[in-house]
Amino acid sequence: MPNKKLVTLSINGSTYEVAVRSYDVLLDVIRENLNLTGTKRGCDMGTCGCCTVHIDGRARLSCLTMALEAVGHEITTIEGLKCNGLLHPLQRAFTEHGGSQCGFCTQGFIMTAKAFLDMHPHPSRDEIEEAISGNMCRCTGYIKIVEAIEAVARQKREIMAEASLAELDAIGESIEGQFDSAEDIRQIREERASRL
Ligand code: FES
Ligand code: FES
Repeated sequence: MPNKKLVTLSINGSTYEVAVRSYDVLLDVIRENLNLTGTKRGCDMGTCGCCTVHIDGRARLSCLTMALEAVGHEITTIEGLKCNGLLHPLQRAFTEHGGSQCGFCTQGFIMTAKAFLDMHPHPSRDEIEEAISGNMCRCTGYIKIVEAIEAVARQKREIMAEASLAELDAIGESIEGQFDSAEDIRQIREERASRL
C-alpha cells in the first residue's frame, strides 16, 4: 500500500478500517471505498452541498474534508439517519411535501437541515432559508424544501408541547437519533418540571 495509511473511521455507529492517502477527501472514501453512495458528488468544489455529511453532529462538506481529518470523529451519512428501520422525519417530510424531485440534492439538504434543527429547534422561515443557502437544487424551486423543513420543526414542537414529563422521558429515548436532540428534550423537561 505505497503512500497509503490504514486508519479507522467511525461512520453511522460502525467502525471501518480503510487505507487512505494523505490527499484523499472524505467523499471519495465514503463513496468509493465504503460504498456509502447516498452521499452525492455534485460540484466537487464546495459550492452545491450535495456531499454534506455530519462530523460530530455538524454539517460538513465531504468534498472539502480530508479523510485523515475525520479520524477520531463520529461521521454520519444519510444512511445513518434511519432509526429502527424507520425513515428520519426529514426524509418523510421531503417525500410528503414534494421537497425532492430527481432527488440528487436531497440528501445534502436533509443532512444540512438536521444539523440546523438540532441546534435551532424553533427556526423562522428566514433562518431556514439562510441555513440551506449553501445547498443547490435544480428541480424544486426551494419552496417545497423549506416547507418540508418547517413541517418537521413544527411537528417536533407539537410533540414536545403536548407531552407529559413521563412522555418527554420516553420521547427522549425513542426519538433520539430521529428528531433529536436529547439535549433539547432535556431542557424542555427541566423547564416543565420547574413549573410544577
Ligand atoms: S460536491 Fe461537495 S459541495 Fe458540491
Ligand atoms: S431535486 Fe433535483 S436537484 Fe434537487
